[in-house]
Amino acid sequence: MGYKISRREVVFALLGGCCFYLFTSLATDSRRTSLPLRFNDTHFPATTGGYLTSQPAPLDLGLSYSLPQTEIIAHAPGWTLFRDLYMSKGALVLLTNSSPSFPDIALMTSTGLPGNLTNDAERMPTERDMAFVTPQEARARWGGKLSRGERNRILTLEGTTLLYNDPPQFLNHYFHFVAELMFGTWALLFGAFDRTISPPSTIPAASFTPPLLSTNTPTITRAIFIHSDGSGWRDGPGFNGYAMRAVFPSATVETSIDWVDRINATKTEMGRAWHFPLALLVDRSAAFRNPMTGAHTQRTAAQAWMVMAKQGKIDLIGNWWASIRAALTRYAGGDSNESLDSELQMPDHVVITYINRQGTRRHLRGADNLALVSAIQDLVDRKNRQGKKWEFQDVHAERLSLDEQIRVTSRTTIMLGVHGNGLTHLVLMKPNRLSAVIEIFIPGGFARDYEWTSRSLGMSHYSVWNDTTFTYPHEPPDPAYPDGFHGPSIPLHAPTVIKLIEDHVAARENGPTRPNNSPVDDFYADDI
Ligand SMILES: *[C@@H]1O[C@H](CO)[C@@H](O)[C@H](O)[C@H]1NC(C)=O
Ligand SMILES: *[C@@H]1O[C@H](CO)[C@@H](O)[C@H](O)[C@H]1NC(C)=O
Ligand SMILES: *[C@@H]1O[C@H](CO)[C@@H](O)[C@H](O)[C@H]1NC(C)=O
Ligand SMILES: *[C@@H]1O[C@H](CO)[C@@H](O)[C@H](O)[C@H]1NC(C)=O
Ligand SMILES: *[C@@H]1O[C@H](CO)[C@@H](O)[C@H](O)[C@H]1NC(C)=O
Repeated sequence: MGYKISRREVVFALLGGCCFYLFTSLATDSRRTSLPLRFNDTHFPATTGGYLTSQPAPLDLGLSYSLPQTEIIAHAPGWTLFRDLYMSKGALVLLTNSSPSFPDIALMTSTGLPGNLTNDAERMPTERDMAFVTPQEARARWGGKLSRGERNRILTLEGTTLLYNDPPQFLNHYFHFVAELMFGTWALLFGAFDRTISPPSTIPAASFTPPLLSTNTPTITRAIFIHSDGSGWRDGPGFNGYAMRAVFPSATVETSIDWVDRINATKTEMGRAWHFPLALLVDRSAAFRNPMTGAHTQRTAAQAWMVMAKQGKIDLIGNWWASIRAALTRYAGGDSNESLDSELQMPDHVVITYINRQGTRRHLRGADNLALVSAIQDLVDRKNRQGKKWEFQDVHAERLSLDEQIRVTSRTTIMLGVHGNGLTHLVLMKPNRLSAVIEIFIPGGFARDYEWTSRSLGMSHYSVWNDTTFTYPHEPPDPAYPDGFHGPSIPLHAPTVIKLIEDHVAARENGPTRPNNSPVDDFYADDI
């Protein structure tokens, strides 16, 4: 994450507190056609659809008098999963006779402009972005005279579509793409479709552990980056394209110019519409309008994760995310074995991975870095002399291929590093009883990116300010980016980190099976 990004995060944090309405999930069980996809993968839920046990018949609304009305399957601010959504002239169209029963469009979409301090109003959606249309109007606009053999001018985009409404502003960063967009996408889809993991009504969602396999999550057919061109959703190091292909290998990507093709096709004199049988719409500005993101977490994915975690539809130790983790690790040639457990297991092997940023702009003082590397090596040597299996990886990401980075970081038990994009690799760690992320800031600095993400996967997270450490719930209330935050002179007292690691391991060995830090219990958890 670069300087501008972090500044913007602060801006969003300041903007977000003021806003909007509270919504509960509109999850509904009614499904017009049952999804024809069933997976047969005995090891972990598939992101690819595994083996299709039947092929869906092509959908053709051309000769259908009644047009399917739009339903919302699941919703959190900024994340809305629709059945039977339409698009015409650039507006997403909700076909319904009862528009008041839908969430405010400002909590579903925006104009897609990049966010800044002064353009709140310009990002507010209007009916040019999202419109409610009655079935009668729809027939008048796009319907053919069926009795005379004409067809409706409505074309279906088969399968499952991800509609990403954000501009490149944040898409083109590994953290925002994988730990935000993909993380929230999978939380919402997995939670919405895996009907096997509803909690019994007598057990509070937070303490419910769902069964381990998702069998219903649909194959992603395409992702459409509505406001981004082909380079706008890709990051410098290349992880975004890598992750997209590894995780959703069947998905076709369309970008803004393809969207314009589709818009242009609907602007002809006779009028046309596109029909999405199943579409997840994601919008960052809409997520920030709710205080959970805007004021409390600065994480858009927090909305999707929370709505599902609160309902017990995803677990709190990252089993729901295993398919993505395994898909990435397998693609990289690493060990993607996943035993999905209902409680975190004690590992027999501790791998400390230091994401070494000395070759990049934001980094430790040179001497402090050398002292840290040698102190961790000494610690690991000492543990091994005591008969334990500890290992140290000093990772200079810029010297490794993408495959190597994924393989190396996915083995991690304890990840350590200066605040920065490299810590995004924490999403590859298979959570176990000792899993932890140790994030080094300049004293006084703090951000929630990796903190929230670690906790939401069932891992511990510690912040280090030179010789001081803190963890949930003792973090600063707000992000802070003091002078030197992004600079090359971040101090670190190595013995403090060594003591932290040893204390952490001792506490977790003797503590409960999972850290007592889940965001599902945070004070803002009822925001949505
Ligand atoms: C799943 O695959 C296994 C191994 O190929 C096979 O034995 C089993 O019958 C399959 N199950 C279903 C439900 O198709
Ligand atoms: C904020 O965004 C608007 C576009 O919505 C742009 O016109 C304006 O120049 C931007 N302001 C700043 C300070 O970047
Ligand atoms: C869409 O229509 C506009 C206006 O007619 C035209 O300028 C543009 O080239 C078209 N775009 C595409 C991708 O066809
Ligand atoms: C992965 O699982 C397979 C099958 O259960 C097993 O044979 C193999 O040893 C496992 N690999 C590792 C590294 O644990
Ligand atoms: C870092 O901590 C050490 C140990 O307490 C202390 O000696 C040193 O002055 C601190 N450095 C900074 C920059 O605060």
